[in-house]
Amino acid sequence: MDETLEHIAADVRACRACDLYHSRSQAVPGQGPVDARVIFIGEGPGFHEDQQGVPFVGAAGEFLEELLAMIGLKRREVFIANVIKCRPPGNRDPRPDEIEACSGFLDRQIALIRPLVIVTLGRFSMARYFPHAKISHIHGQPRKIDGILYYPMYHPAAALHQPSLRPKVEEDMARIPDLMARIDEFPDTPPQEQVTQLHLF
Ligand code: URA
Repeated sequence: MDETLEHIAADVRACRACDLYHSRSQAVPGQGPVDARVIFIGEGPGFHEDQQGVPFVGAAGEFLEELLAMIGLKRREVFIANVIKCRPPGNRDPRPDEIEACSGFLDRQIALIRPLVIVTLGRFSMARYFPHAKISHIHGQPRKIDGILYYPMYHPAAALHQPSLRPKVEEDMARIPDLMARIDEFPDTPPQEQVTQLHLF
């Protein structure tokens, strides 16, 4: 059977690979079209996302939609997902074992969508690709690996809590159309440099 986003979503909803299934109201597989050119990856569902089964529907989601509108994109044109698909109790940080248990779903979604750009929102999704990097050092710096441009940004919720981050988030978002237009100009990171770059850039 050919893989589809609906199959992946059904597997997410049935998942019991970590303890979060006990406390979730609904899993939140992700939302967007299979031909999306950009994937945004956040942290994990919050209260409203858990209630509705849809990512980024609370205050951070509203801000994300404003940011998308700034660059002429609608949320229905991009794929929006999270590092973990179920809400951690009390919105605590996701644990490494939970992230590990969930990572195959995101891998499958990315493999199916084959986006041009993956935007990581916040440090948990950044750490998936750049494990030891600091977001204050690398936000807004794209790196191309195997044809996909990885673009780390602060989480929109961070900018809501810390207004000084807002201009940085807006500036980083504003660069996305230009990055997409020039994607072929970015050299792929050579395999021998990937391990170091992934950790340090
Ligand atoms: N924050 C996230 O990281 N993801 C959501 O879906 C909502 C808020």
